[in-house]
Order: sequence, then structure tokens, then C-alpha cells
Amino acid sequence: MAAIISTDIDAAAAHLRAGDLVGMPTETVYGLAANALDPTATANIFAVKERPAFDPLIIHQASAARVLAFAKNIPSAATKLAALFWPGPLTLVLEKTSVVPDIVTAGLTTVALRVPQHPSALALLKQLDFPVAAPSANPFGFVSPTTAQHVADQLGEKIPFILDGGPCRVGLESTIVGFPSGTPTIYRKGGMAVEDIELALGCPVNLLEHSSSRPQAPGMLSQHYSPGCELFLWDNIEQDAAIGQRDAVVLFGDRGAKYLSERPRNSLSIHNLSPEGNLVEAASRLFAVLREINKRGYREVSVELLPERGLGRAINDRLRRAAARE
Ligand code: TXA
Ligand code: MG
Repeated sequence: MAAIISTDIDAAAAHLRAGDLVGMPTETVYGLAANALDPTATANIFAVKERPAFDPLIIHQASAARVLAFAKNIPSAATKLAALFWPGPLTLVLEKTSVVPDIVTAGLTTVALRVPQHPSALALLKQLDFPVAAPSANPFGFVSPTTAQHVADQLGEKIPFILDGGPCRVGLESTIVGFPSGTPTIYRKGGMAVEDIELALGCPVNLLEHSSSRPQAPGMLSQHYSPGCELFLWDNIEQDAAIGQRDAVVLFGDRGAKYLSERPRNSLSIHNLSPEGNLVEAASRLFAVLREINKRGYREVSVELLPERGLGRAINDRLRRAAARE
């Protein structure tokens, strides 16, 4: 059985009502959606993604009021961020109510909530009388999908339906903010810049760093987004003394491209996240480029990191995780 790829929102809703999994577009990445209040349907998400252990899921709804109904004791900072940035690429981790099934939160007392900013996702969610749990629609450890075809390529044999909402505008997963002991803390850098969150709250926020052995939050393992080859990361591509033996290079802006054009470089294949140096464009292209690298079967790829500001911080985070070895 191969998944139907379609723009039919009613059909997607019918599948979700029947307890099926559906590939759902959002502005960040495509999600693997199921009825969040149906423990069997949500358990199926873990089976299809082949997650080795249960990792908590994000609950999606069409409005802040509807999604915040699954949380209690909401800190005022969270209310503020919800009002300012939803719908948008932001996930809030809050104390959960008893309505949320344990399988969704992997037994935690907190739940991750989000209102996605995508017209098809919002239209779909509005039709349903239940919330939707959706992790990124990729097998565990792989790059997140940013088109319906990416979902079909990896999960098309395992799910009946993919709602096609076009390529994802943001292209990076949502930024996750939690409030341990009431302190706003970034659990995952993503499609909303940390600077914008700090500006909104009027104070700096804590950053949770990744760890390869002891993740401080679930799903924070450093090795992730595996591109199937060795990635070498540099602040400046000129630092790579072995550039001649690489199969490909990933660049941002025109500096590296100019440098490489001035040296002999055999068959080096060049992928530029944004020749104009635009961080938003780079974010939207990142996963497609990592996917392309995987598909072409390169062995060694040299990557120039982006400036550590705005979305550049989240993109560098994904690149570092993609480069991490166990
Ligand atoms: O942009 C996104 O967030 C996409 C789209 C589909 O909405 N979803 C997504 O889901 O990236 P997923 O499952 O791939 O990543 C969710 C992350 C995981 O790392 C998980 O550990 C974390 O959110 N998470 C979920 N609930 C949590 C909780 N209660 N406390 C801490 N982290 C949590
Ligand atoms: Mg994911």
C-alpha cells in the first residue's frame, strides 16, 4: 500500500477520525499526525517512526485557547509567548492536565503544545473535535521532511494518507520553550529566533545544551539528523586543509563560493544554503540539502557554519548534531 498524496483536507480529517496516521504539513516541517486522545493511534506513531524509546509528542491545535486547555498552572511568560507568537514555530512545554494520555507525554507531568501557522494544518485542526499529536514525519534519527514527497519517500508504505501543503516555509522544527522552576528555558533551538523570545520576555532565557550520553530533556540526544556520511564543520571553509579530498561542500553566502572558485577543486560538488546570505532561506533549505547529500552517497562533506545569530543558531545546532558521532 502506498500513501495517497492529496490536498483534500476533508479526506485527511476522515483518516484521523478513523484512528489512522496522516502526514500533515506545517510551516516548520511535516508532522506524522494522529488523534492525540487515542492511545492506540498515538502508539502507532512510535511504531511507524521506529523510535527506540517513547519520546514525548507535541500536541497541535487550531488556536491558543484550544491548545492551552491541555495545560494547567500556566506561567505568565508562557501566556505572553502564546499570545505573541501563535500560530507560529514555537512549542511551549507546560504542566499537563489529566486528559492528556501518558503515551503522548512519555509519562512526564508536562506536555508540549503548539499552534502551527499553516493554512491547511489550521483548516484540518479546525474540523476536528480532538487535538493532533505529531512528531516530525521521518524515521527516528533521520532528517525532518519539508515536502509531502519527502514523507512519501520514507513513510509512504506505512501510512495511508499525506496532506500536501507544499514545501514548508520555515523548514526547521519549532523552537521549544519550557519553564522548569518557572524559568523560561530553550529546550530546542528552532524556527523562532531565541533573540525574538528574549525581546518579548524582556530578559535573557536559559539554554539547555545537548548531551550525547545524558540528555537533559527527552529527545535531546546530540546525534540526530544523520546524513549518512562524515561531516566536517568549519567557521570558515578556508580552514579545511583537506578540501581537495571532500566529495561536497555546504556553504552559506558568497565568501566560500568565491574562495573555492579561485582554487582547483576536481569534482567537489557545491551546495549553497543561501548564496545571498539570507538566514531564513538557509533554514528553509537545510533539510533538503542534507537529504540530497544522503541520496548522492557522498563519503566526506565539508560544511561552513553560519553566523551564530537568529536562525543561524538553530541551523548550526542541526549541523552539529548531524556531524556528531556516537
Ligand atoms: O516543528 C515541530 O515542532 C514539528 C512539527 C510537526 O510540529 N514537530 C516536531 O516533533 O519536531 P518531534 O517529535 O520531532 O520533536 C518534539 C520534541 C522532542 O525532542 C521531544 O523530546 C520534545 O519535543 N518534547 C515533547 N514533549 C516534551 C516535554 N514534555 N518536555 C520536554 N521535551 C518535550
Ligand atoms: Mg523530530
